[in-house]
Amino acid sequence: MTESIVEKATKIAKEFELPEGFVKKAVDVFIKQADESLEKQTLRGLPMIPSYVSGIPKGTEKGVFLAIDLGGTNFRVCSVTLNGDSTFDIIQSKKPIPDSLMKSTSAEFISHLGDRIQEFIETHCCDTMQHEGGSDILKMGYTFSFPVNQTSINRGTLIRWTKGYDIKDMVGKDIVIVLQEELDRRNLPIHIAVLLNDTVGTLMSRAYTKPETSGGQTLIGCIFGTGTNGAYSEKVRKIKKFTGETTEKIMVINTEWGSFDNDLTILPNTKYDKQVNINSPNPDFHLFEKRVSGMYLGELLRLCMADLGFQSEEIANPWSFDTMVPSVIDGDEDPKLEKTGKMLAEYVGLSTTSLEERKAVRILSKAIGRRSAHLSAIPCAGLILHTKALEKFPSLDIGGDGSVIEFYPNFQKMMHEALAEALGKEGDSKITIGIAKDGSGVGAALCAYFA
Ligand code: GLC
Repeated sequence: MTESIVEKATKIAKEFELPEGFVKKAVDVFIKQADESLEKQTLRGLPMIPSYVSGIPKGTEKGVFLAIDLGGTNFRVCSVTLNGDSTFDIIQSKKPIPDSLMKSTSAEFISHLGDRIQEFIETHCCDTMQHEGGSDILKMGYTFSFPVNQTSINRGTLIRWTKGYDIKDMVGKDIVIVLQEELDRRNLPIHIAVLLNDTVGTLMSRAYTKPETSGGQTLIGCIFGTGTNGAYSEKVRKIKKFTGETTEKIMVINTEWGSFDNDLTILPNTKYDKQVNINSPNPDFHLFEKRVSGMYLGELLRLCMADLGFQSEEIANPWSFDTMVPSVIDGDEDPKLEKTGKMLAEYVGLSTTSLEERKAVRILSKAIGRRSAHLSAIPCAGLILHTKALEKFPSLDIGGDGSVIEFYPNFQKMMHEALAEALGKEGDSKITIGIAKDGSGVGAALCAYFA
């Protein structure tokens, strides 16, 4: 008898299942790789980048700050008012970076950022914005969500691009200097006072906004969006490779956990994962991210659907599926799977589908989503164990941001399932996960406050 499409999909879905005991083992590998990288940097190891950020907010910080935020999809320019009572107000201009610019030259790209900042300043600049020590120069925080070898609070060279970017002549350049030169050329009265990763911003912003009464110590700031990554506070004496100057005792580390296990010693590697990696702009790097984050979940589904024999222009076209496709289908609980049918018709070019076909696609989406959420718990549990935080604090809080953690159906619930596997039910029950909305913009303002 020939296999039905649902049976075929179930077989593929099995390839996305993590074996019994996998999460615990992978957490051990994560801790080992993190320890090694705090000691010595290697090209393929976890970056574990010292951020030069040492102050963690209390919620009482005040002021109006200019901030910019370059993420995987959007560039935001904002004015953030910290009200000093854990609340903030934000005025922002948020627009996607055009695809063509993501693969252009540094001159074209930086000039685009300059245009956007100039436009914002001309419309929204206000007297209350924080100035550099009594001068006319505005102090700005710059969130840059890519791996940077940070050499001071406002200096850092681009190690490599991740997500959809590939502007070759920017690799190795100091990304603050190139932008500062552009702002100076335009006579804009702005000084880039801090450079930070979006996860560092998320950690800062969650610590600022979380009311004292909810959850415990904010330990991790993380992003599950186009890409994935996390930051946490480390004792400076444990960062053996750190050669910079500081008198502080702790420093936030940008782990760049998207690069966990780049040598695939433990991560699953289905034929779909291999294909995603080959087709990506950064082959053989950020392999954890390629199994977890928004940029890749749609692509994994596209490859699985092509394997099942589905055909359309979109299915033939790499990177044409947004995460919204598996996300909406995964969350479709209606017996007729009408939302799934609509999604397949509108975004996947399959104008009519049978119920069996829709069921098959849902089985695939659920398998891809569940694996992503379970994998996501690994670095979080790894950092919790590495810092011995469960022994130090009665409860712990993780601040997260990004479309996947915020909108993917049951993502946080599934993360908790895997956290329970790694830390035990009791350990997991002490952990809260909260969304740090606009974390990277607000975090940039908070870092500018401390700078
Ligand atoms: C990618 C980047 C990292 C960023 C993450 C989330 O992994 O390399 O810097 O934090 O995406 O945006």
